[in-house]
Amino acid sequence: KQENMGKESAVLLVIWMHFASTFSSYATTAEPAVETDTFSNITANSTDWMVDFSDIESKFALRTSDEPEDDLCYIVPGQRETIKECNFNPDTKTFIVIHGWTVTGMYESWVPKLVTALYEREPTANVIVVDWLIRAQQHYPTSAAYTKLVGRDVAKFVNWLQAELEYPWEKLHILGYSLGAHVAGIAGLLMRNKVNRITGLDPAGPTFEYADAQSTLSPDDALFVDVLHTNTRGSPDRSIGIQRPVGHVDIYPNGGTFQPGCDLQNTMMMVATTGLRNMDQIVKCSHERSIHLFIDSLINMEQQSMAYRCSSKETFNKGVCLSCRKNRCNKVGYDVTKVRSRRNSKMYMKTRDMMPYKVYHYQVKVHFFSQSKISYTDQPMKISLYGYAGEKENIPYVMPAMKTNTTVSFLLTTDVDIGELMMVKLVWEKDTIIGWPWWNPDTFHVRKLRVKSGERQSRVIFVAKDGEFSYLARGGDAAVFVKDKEAQSSKKNERLHKLKMQGSSFKKTTE
Ligand SMILES: *[C@@H]1O[C@H](CO)[C@@H](O)[C@H](O)[C@H]1NC(C)=O
Ligand SMILES: *[C@@H]1O[C@H](CO)[C@@H](O)[C@H](O)[C@H]1NC(C)=O
Ligand SMILES: *[C@@H]1O[C@H](CO)[C@@H](O)[C@H](O)[C@H]1NC(C)=O
Repeated sequence: KQENMGKESAVLLVIWMHFASTFSSYATTAEPAVETDTFSNITANSTDWMVDFSDIESKFALRTSDEPEDDLCYIVPGQRETIKECNFNPDTKTFIVIHGWTVTGMYESWVPKLVTALYEREPTANVIVVDWLIRAQQHYPTSAAYTKLVGRDVAKFVNWLQAELEYPWEKLHILGYSLGAHVAGIAGLLMRNKVNRITGLDPAGPTFEYADAQSTLSPDDALFVDVLHTNTRGSPDRSIGIQRPVGHVDIYPNGGTFQPGCDLQNTMMMVATTGLRNMDQIVKCSHERSIHLFIDSLINMEQQSMAYRCSSKETFNKGVCLSCRKNRCNKVGYDVTKVRSRRNSKMYMKTRDMMPYKVYHYQVKVHFFSQSKISYTDQPMKISLYGYAGEKENIPYVMPAMKTNTTVSFLLTTDVDIGELMMVKLVWEKDTIIGWPWWNPDTFHVRKLRVKSGERQSRVIFVAKDGEFSYLARGGDAAVFVKDKEAQSSKKNERLHKLKMQGSSFKKTTE
């Protein structure tokens, strides 16, 4: 089965590289058809450009929850009556949605989905979709260069709308996908005031990875900038999504490289049913997942995903980053807590392969004792977690290394809420079916398991169900662990002791 997956990802890689090279070859050949001095004029200390609406090419459609599919009413900068005609509600929040590069020159199917989800969550809000389709369907580098002009259009529009209505800046939230994320950033930079929030949904990578903060989305562009990175595979200049953090909070679901459910088998199935014209879906699946994760956060409020600050995805996969102290964890998507630390913070999370995407994160720590020296790599395990609210059995996990008298720590996830943990079972599978009957399998002794839950922020110590050790034999029975009642009660005693001591020291100091 593993061999199969290797082949699959190899084919996927070939297809992906084809797309990536098309992306980046554009970047080196075609010269952008945008005057380069435009931008310096915009940033110059002059407000003349702001009130010149004659060169605005982008259109601003106020969509409705009844007709989320179509642009039926445009608000036109300079034409005050259009604000009323489109029934803009000056008392509520406004979302401005900005699309990215398009091959077809048409809106992609996610646009009405995001509009619907925004209205579902904020029924009285204004959801405005920016139409820059004509500039977005050029060769990639041309469209990429157009982000400056489109950003200027959006800034003019917002500056005008705000001034007309004395609309509060803190009610503005701009959402941009792919190239649209950089449009949002440039728009934010050019506005008279900072908008409340910009959400970057997998901001485009090619031509932006090494660009300066003025040309890309950056933390300076709004009071709060949050970013989801979902397709950052490959070397930095070839990655479809930007790899470096560009916001106050940058979340890398599943490491940010590639998303579950976007593998070749799934996408080939889709191509088979919808035709080869949708080949780009193979690439877009992970890229567009950023939008669907955000939609998920809008409509599946009771299944709020959490992300955790960590130095790298490798460290995160060891399970050591599941802390929530000092803003180290945050909600993913719409309800993110606005943490504005000075340095960018990279956050990580795992997800399911479909909506709702939420999973529960656990760190498992285990020490392998043995009298003899045993050493294995990449061992298939099946782990079962039992809790008061449910259970998840036979979670597959490949243990990177198992060695005598060493401790390992790893990340495990469940898609169901099992509540407070009661019992854990470990099975060490044998990769070959036929064993030798006279062969004595290698066995580790395990005394304790430590499990930390990210979502519950709890730590539980488990001990062998029978006796001092549980035995973990290759191809053998399950090693069973139960909650250590003594450890829990001794902890309680410790707390009580501390409390008593604190009481006495308090008394001392006041005397
Ligand atoms: C930029 O400003 C210069 C001088 O102020 C002017 O000559 C030029 O036409 C401007 N460019 C654009 C694109 O507005
Ligand atoms: C722009 O010019 C005005 C008046 O000359 C000045 O007060 C203001 O500080 C300038 N702003 C910037 C950002 O340079
Ligand atoms: C592993 O540690 C145990 C207990 O500390 C010890 O008895 C055993 O000999 C060690 N095993 C090896 C292979 O060193």
